[in-house]
Amino acid sequence: MKKIAPLFVIALALVLFFNGKKYDEMMEARLSSPVAVCLEGKSCGQATAITLVAGGASRSADEIYSTGCAACHNSGVAGSPVLGNQGQWENRQTKGYEMLVDNAWNGINGMPAKGLCADCTKEEIGMAVQYMLDAI
Ligand code: HEC
Repeated sequence: MKKIAPLFVIALALVLFFNGKKYDEMMEARLSSPVAVCLEGKSCGQATAITLVAGGASRSADEIYSTGCAACHNSGVAGSPVLGNQGQWENRQTKGYEMLVDNAWNGINGMPAKGLCADCTKEEIGMAVQYMLDAI
C-alpha cells in the first residue's frame, strides 16, 4: 500500500494540472469574444468601428427638416410657406437668409421657435432654412 501512495499523488497532480489547463482555456475563450469595441478614428483591425454621435452635430439638413419642419412646411399648416412653393417664398426670401434664420430660431407668428426641433442648434436651424431656400 505504501508504494501506491505516490502514484495517487501523481495521479491527483495530473488531474489538477489538466483541470487547470482546461480552466485556462475556458477563460481564454471567454475573454476573446468576437465582439470587440473600437472607437472610430483608432486603428482597430477587424473590430467593428462604433461611431459616437455627439449631440446633434451630425444631423443633415434633410434630417432636421424632415423631423423638425416638415410637419407644417410640407402642407402649409397655419399659413406656413410650403416647401418648394416659389410664390409663398418669394417675399420672405427678400428678408435675407440671416433674418429668416433669426425668425425660425425665435419664432414668428404661427411659427414656433425652432419649429419641432427643440434640441436644434442655431446652426442646424440655419441648415434647415437653407434646405428650404434651396427647394424654391
Ligand atoms: C408648427 C408648425 C411649424 C413648424 C413645425 C415649423 N414652422 Fe416654420 N413657419 C410656420 C408658420 C405658420 C410660418 C409663417 C409665419 C408667418 O410669417 O406668419 C412659418 C414660417 C417660417 C419661415 C419664414 C419666416 C419669415 O420670416 O418669413 C421660415 C424660414 C421657417 N418657418 C423655418 C422653419 C424651420 C427651419 C423649421 C424647422 C426647424 C420650421 N419652420 C418648422 C410654421 C411652422
